[in-house]
Amino acid sequence: MRNGEMKLMTGRSFPRAMGHDFAGVAEAVGAGVTRLKAGDAVLGPARFRQAGAFGEMVTAPEKAVVLKPVDLSCEQAAALPTVGVTAYQAAAEIRPGQAVFVNGCLGGVGRAAAQFARARGASVAGSCRNPATDEAREFGVEPVVGFGFDPAALAERFDLVLDTPGMLPFAAARTLLKPGGTIVDIVPTPAKMIRSALPGPFRAMMGRPVTGDLEEVARTLRLPIARTVPLAEAIPALTALECEQRPKGGNWSSPWPEAKPGRAKGVS
Ligand SMILES: NC(=O)c1ccc[n+]([C@@H]2O[C@H](COP(=O)([O-])OP(=O)(O)OC[C@H]3O[C@@H](n4cnc5c(N)ncnc54)[C@H](OP(=O)(O)O)[C@@H]3O)[C@@H](O)[C@H]2O)c1
Repeated sequence: MRNGEMKLMTGRSFPRAMGHDFAGVAEAVGAGVTRLKAGDAVLGPARFRQAGAFGEMVTAPEKAVVLKPVDLSCEQAAALPTVGVTAYQAAAEIRPGQAVFVNGCLGGVGRAAAQFARARGASVAGSCRNPATDEAREFGVEPVVGFGFDPAALAERFDLVLDTPGMLPFAAARTLLKPGGTIVDIVPTPAKMIRSALPGPFRAMMGRPVTGDLEEVARTLRLPIARTVPLAEAIPALTALECEQRPKGGNWSSPWPEAKPGRAKGVS
């Protein structure tokens, strides 16, 4: 978004406000708002095009704001909305006994999707940078493979392949699928949107702020926080995250020789 790579969805007007997910206290509610009142502790995502959650105050539509559980700090609550709702909706069709592969299972959406899929009674396998660590196994992901895994070794095992960094080549994802399974990619590009509209297993997906889904996310999902910074340091923090991931002057690297470089790291 900062680089303007998502102008199709975020709008073409720059500079733009940053920050989508928020938690805090409702200062005021608009006429006709019945579910919430001033003084409520809440969480949610700001409007996608408007953003602005890096400000002291932000507005959001009522349907995208839910009560913050009392056991969550604002920092914990603000980590949940976008990744939580996206993962929840990506896992919506999963049935007990099904099998799911989460590419990037230690990212925000990946962790959340693995938890929702397990809660729906599915088995979850996934990829992460260092499969030797037990972090993914600790929340039930098995087997855990590295980013450059051989899809043939896991052929036709999964009902859902969720590609969270949007970097899995289509042929690799299809190899993993059982007949009738679905590939969900959450990093849409124009080419992926076209593929998604065609018949076949591939779907490009955007999470939508649905009140009931947000409430379920707030009630059940808990994510670890790597670091907190004051709002004034939000932009330098984004820059630092980007620099950790992106080689200077280059693109995200892909372990898949046939894949075009894409974006692997997102910040909501
Ligand atoms: N469509 C939607 O509605 C929606 C909603 C939320 C997010 N997104 C997008 O979805 C993406 C993921 O979001 P996120 O919040 O989960 O980001 P994230 O927390 O940065 O997670 C991305 C994960 O992908 C991993 N990864 C990096 N390179 C990889 C590779 N080659 N193969 C497999 N995994 C790889 C990363 O591992 P390392 O940390 O080890 O690098 C990280 O665990 C971002 O691009 C974001 O913009 C879309």
